[in-house]
Amino acid sequence: MSTADNLQQQSLAEEEYSYDVVPYPSHPFRQSHPERLASVGNLFGIKPADIHNCRVLEIGCAAGGNLIPMAEGLPDSKFVGVDLSKKQIERGQLNIDSLGLTNIELKYMNCVDIDESMGTFDYIIVHGVFSWIPEDVQERIFEICQKQLSENGIAYVSYNTYPGWHLRGMIRDMMNYHVRNLKDAPRRIQQSRALLEFLAKSVSADKGAYGMLLNNELQLLRRQSDNYLFHEHLEKDNTPIYFHEFIERAKAYDLQYLGESQLATMWIGNFPKDVAQTLERIAPDIVQREQYADFVRNRTFRQTLLCHKDAPVSRALKMESLEGAHVAGNLDEQIEKGKQPKPGDPRTFVNPLTRQTMTTQDPLVIETVMKLREAFPCAISFEDLFQHAMDKMVDGVIADATKIEALKRSLATNIIHMTVSGIVELQYNPSRYTADIPEFPKTSAVARMQAESTNRLTSCRHETVTVDDLSKHLVPLMDGTRTKDQLVAELKRLVDEGKLVIQQKGERPDSLSMDTVMDKAVDEVLSRVAKASLLVKQD
Ligand SMILES: C[S@@+](CC[C@H](N)C(=O)[O-])C[C@H]1O[C@@H](n2cnc3c(N)ncnc32)[C@H](O)[C@@H]1O
Repeated sequence: MSTADNLQQQSLAEEEYSYDVVPYPSHPFRQSHPERLASVGNLFGIKPADIHNCRVLEIGCAAGGNLIPMAEGLPDSKFVGVDLSKKQIERGQLNIDSLGLTNIELKYMNCVDIDESMGTFDYIIVHGVFSWIPEDVQERIFEICQKQLSENGIAYVSYNTYPGWHLRGMIRDMMNYHVRNLKDAPRRIQQSRALLEFLAKSVSADKGAYGMLLNNELQLLRRQSDNYLFHEHLEKDNTPIYFHEFIERAKAYDLQYLGESQLATMWIGNFPKDVAQTLERIAPDIVQREQYADFVRNRTFRQTLLCHKDAPVSRALKMESLEGAHVAGNLDEQIEKGKQPKPGDPRTFVNPLTRQTMTTQDPLVIETVMKLREAFPCAISFEDLFQHAMDKMVDGVIADATKIEALKRSLATNIIHMTVSGIVELQYNPSRYTADIPEFPKTSAVARMQAESTNRLTSCRHETVTVDDLSKHLVPLMDGTRTKDQLVAELKRLVDEGKLVIQQKGERPDSLSMDTVMDKAVDEVLSRVAKASLLVKQD
């Protein structure tokens, strides 16, 4: 009997394995995608493996919601996922079979049994697992990274951290005390929520530090799903760790800190100037600086990247770091009502995903932002951005070579600054989706499968996007075999069969205007799914 069976057998004697009783919703996490890990690796000089020809291991993969879309998007790479929940692995396997993917394997096993017979991996992903397992299993995960990460490999490990988790842990302790005598999972969840409501009500009028802190945390928890609440707060193990302690433990396995998957959290320039200056003075090395930054932010969660201790990490970012880079930026402009910006005015842009803002008067930066906005969700290569800057900024047909070099350097400096401050994202591969609507629109097989049962789909940017009902009906039909007119015909069929109801101002349109309504509706769906990065770029 395998260790996994043994462990499940043991826990079944007492109670069923918690992730079989309350499965964890299995989603894509963009920040754990090899593309993101490779971008940080490239930027910090370690030349990671080509994501189109790599091996990826995910520990605690649940039903493969993160790994399966990666495998579809990178068909020449190999993916292995392991999880201790038999039910979740079986569910993932059903999806793999129905998608016909042959480059991914999900294994029901305890990660402690991963051994060298499984080979080495260029990327190892451990998301939402490390804090919820016993210490000896945590040590084993470091050991797997030490022994089975390829030479320039990158491991992603997310975990709960202090100081932020001191407060959250307090709420966890209170809940666990309250449900200490309950065995049944739904009762434990329901009673924990009841305690939360009681506490929220009891402290709502308390304007002191305790009331305010507790209220903030309680509001956050009220919005979380039952599955999240159960596994985050009611599992036996949940051991947050200070960042410096995590890195010390990793060092014992010859691993070093590469960076954070969310680069902007490493940029102390995002703090007020005096805070950044003090951090620089009191914390000369990166680990200390990150630790003090956590103290300032009261950080609760980290997504840390590790690599071997001999990997040539260099965080001095230069123009050369942008070789082969592509830039994506989803930027909104903040404009005062009724005021149109004039040339020379300062302009403020915000990235709605990271909520980072940037104010600039520099025409080069403004032109670049405009170009990125136009292309989003697709990325533009640095070389194309430079060409665009030349077209817009250089007068005359023949320009001075030193002027051109200075322009390139200035563009590179700005792009690097915008990247580390969370305004734009870098990737080292062209986007595999398109913002233009092709003659035969195609969504990913994963999204088509998901749309059969839910409105929450995995985009080609490896994010969850929520689509409207009409899009949900049309996405499964966008398999690259139908033109827009054929999609309209399919939509008509759905309406005729009574599966969809189309109304205009509360009434069914007559057959003549029905055609126009459907034609317009399909156009709108296509532009929405393109904007949501659901349309695959076809060769
Ligand atoms: C909180 S869930 C996270 C799932 C997924 N990575 C995510 O973030 O959505 C933790 C997962 O780790 C798995 N797990 C816990 N201990 C494990 C072990 N020793 N070996 C393999 N998987 C384990 C659980 O079964 C569960 O599916």
